[in-house]
Amino acid sequence: MQKDKQLSVVPCHVGVIMDGNGRWATARNHKRSYGHKKGAQNIERVVFALLKEGVSYISLYAFSTENMQRPTQEVNALFQILNDGIKKYGEIALKKGVRLCISGDTQVLNEQIRQTINTYEQKTACFNKPVLNICINYGARQELCFAFNNMLKDNLAITWQNIQKSTYNGFLPPVDLVIRTGGEHRLSNFMLFQCAYAELYFTDVLWPDFSKEEVKKALSWFADRKRRFGKL
Ligand code: IPE
Ligand code: IPE
Ligand code: MG
Repeated sequence: MQKDKQLSVVPCHVGVIMDGNGRWATARNHKRSYGHKKGAQNIERVVFALLKEGVSYISLYAFSTENMQRPTQEVNALFQILNDGIKKYGEIALKKGVRLCISGDTQVLNEQIRQTINTYEQKTACFNKPVLNICINYGARQELCFAFNNMLKDNLAITWQNIQKSTYNGFLPPVDLVIRTGGEHRLSNFMLFQCAYAELYFTDVLWPDFSKEEVKKALSWFADRKRRFGKL
């Protein structure tokens, strides 16, 4: 691969499953929470690299509904890191004209994190694009239940377009590319509906090590895909 090759096609919406923080820390004789801290710091370089290449929508999987089943100590450490992260990236988003939104069941989160979320969602709501969507206490199955319940309330017909509109952030377009770090080849309940036609890129690189060069590799791989959407 050439170093600064111009990409022929850039995905509009990239979903990132940021996996491997725990293993990254354990391999260095650190606590898992240290890996989460490093992982949160890594968001900056990856998001900037994606924006620089022209990606308009970025969805980051930060905490799944299933992650609630981890030991309380780890969950608490993660929520503190998430709260600080939303503040940090919220401020950056404000300065750079990026809309920040959160997808997930935020009602069960503590007051502090809900307030931080509201503040930055509101302050950046005036921006159209690019969008940074952070998935917190997110599960695709739970999101579909949320969408169907909204549709019932609003008496909407069950069409896939109405399902899309009724999701946590219905303005998000379908995901074009999923990047999963950390070596696992699965979606782990991430945006199942929005990923119907996504290209899936898996890498063994652990999230804290996922650099801007790795971003470029993933986007080059995407540019070489032939997307048929069922046609010939
Ligand atoms: C991803 O890293 C972050 C979250 C799931 C919150 P992990 O914590 O899953 O790290 P590994 O997979 O155990 O290495
Ligand atoms: C997926 O990683 C969730 C996030 C990255 C937030 P997990 O580590 O929770 O996924 P599984 O348990 O290996 O499927
Ligand atoms: Mg994991």
